[in-house]
Amino acid sequence: MFDKTTYTTRREKLKTLLQDGIVLLPGNVDVPMNYKSNTYRFRQDSNFLYFFGLDQQGLAAIIDLDDGSETIFGDDASLDDIIWMGPQPSLKSRAEAVGVAHAESLSQLSDRVADAHAKGRKIHFLPPYRAENMLLLEELLDIKPAEQKGKASVELIKAIVQLRSVKEPAEIIEIEKAMDVAWLMHNTAMKMARPGVYEHEIAGVVEGIALSGNGMLSFPLILSVHGETLHNHSHDNKLEGGQLLLMDGGAETAMHYATDHTRTMPVSGRFSPRQKDIYEIVFKAQVEAINAIRPGVTFKSIHMLAAEHLAGGLKELGLMKGDVKSAVEQGAHALFMPHGLGHMMGLDVHDMEDLGEDYVGYDDEVKRSEQFGTAFLRLGRKLQQGFVLTVEPGIYFIPALFEKWQQEKKFADFINYDKVKEYIGFGGIRIEDDILVTKEGYRVLGKPIPKTVADVEATMRAK
Ligand code: GLY
Repeated sequence: MFDKTTYTTRREKLKTLLQDGIVLLPGNVDVPMNYKSNTYRFRQDSNFLYFFGLDQQGLAAIIDLDDGSETIFGDDASLDDIIWMGPQPSLKSRAEAVGVAHAESLSQLSDRVADAHAKGRKIHFLPPYRAENMLLLEELLDIKPAEQKGKASVELIKAIVQLRSVKEPAEIIEIEKAMDVAWLMHNTAMKMARPGVYEHEIAGVVEGIALSGNGMLSFPLILSVHGETLHNHSHDNKLEGGQLLLMDGGAETAMHYATDHTRTMPVSGRFSPRQKDIYEIVFKAQVEAINAIRPGVTFKSIHMLAAEHLAGGLKELGLMKGDVKSAVEQGAHALFMPHGLGHMMGLDVHDMEDLGEDYVGYDDEVKRSEQFGTAFLRLGRKLQQGFVLTVEPGIYFIPALFEKWQQEKKFADFINYDKVKEYIGFGGIRIEDDILVTKEGYRVLGKPIPKTVADVEATMRAK
């Protein structure tokens, strides 16, 4: 937990951004895997963590915007709880630790909400993403789960996005703590990758490193010789010489700040000339995109810049043709990179995505594109000092997408389908780092994870 003033200051700032009514913030609860007492690892709600810092299940909070009071609701441990889980701090002491004066039992929550409701006060709540909290909101507010997202408080969403988008110095320090774990995860994967090893052998060790860093993975590990599948969570393949292995993985600190890196490595330890050609294109696009980061520039323009580098490189190899700028404007490059360049990162790996991607990544000035590929860009708006984001271009040869576009002769002026066909089975390459937007430009966070062809190969050799 940060010190008490971090949380009191954040809540005071939130109050200044909202008009009136109450803010209702439920934390998360334990979720059963296969029976009630056998639960998934607990992950607290990030908004609750941001404003209240308490990382235990079964809590909720109300901020009263009219009288300024703050209350945490929860229950003290029963004797049974203490017998099974050991002594637990009282709710009052937990509330005091984060500067909250009032602590009440969970059973009081519905009375407080009902009272506000009866008085016609505004009840600000966020779009819920877990079934347990949807049921709670239904019980408290009498709003069906399917309608809750639409009735969530846009005022509250916008206020939280405004606060959480700009990371405090203490948050940057926390994110950088997880970077050492991320470095070890990726270096270990490079050292373990060789023909005959199963993906799950590497995945298990990598996840273990995240756990031994006193945190957890920041999202289910993507580690696959089928890197062309963007979020491939299966780890069943045996690695073979000549394949590429893509690992997209991140760690969370104990306080739940995330990292997110991708590296792609040749299973044999050396990139083939063809793999190297494609790798160098992605590498250049990533470096140039990072170099363009500074406050005031839209991330959408950096996405387009990266796309132009990719298309330019693919044209040099004969896979694309025609005018590069027109190809990118029209979306032809999306055959090779059908995703966005990156996203915000912080307490969530896709920071604040539960609040709605468009609120986080777009605004009145920059609207989301409807074009295939660019439409998946999660962050488009102008960058500000203090944003933390990922830069993750890639080139993928996706058989199903290739077949569809080829049949439709889509962008035939820009894509050399005969040449691209030769690459089906290649897999995919993505390279990703986490970047802090600074006053002057940017800082790549963390100890550098091997990234050049030479460094990746050298790390793999040093097994
Ligand atoms: N690195 C995984 C993701 O961005 O979804």
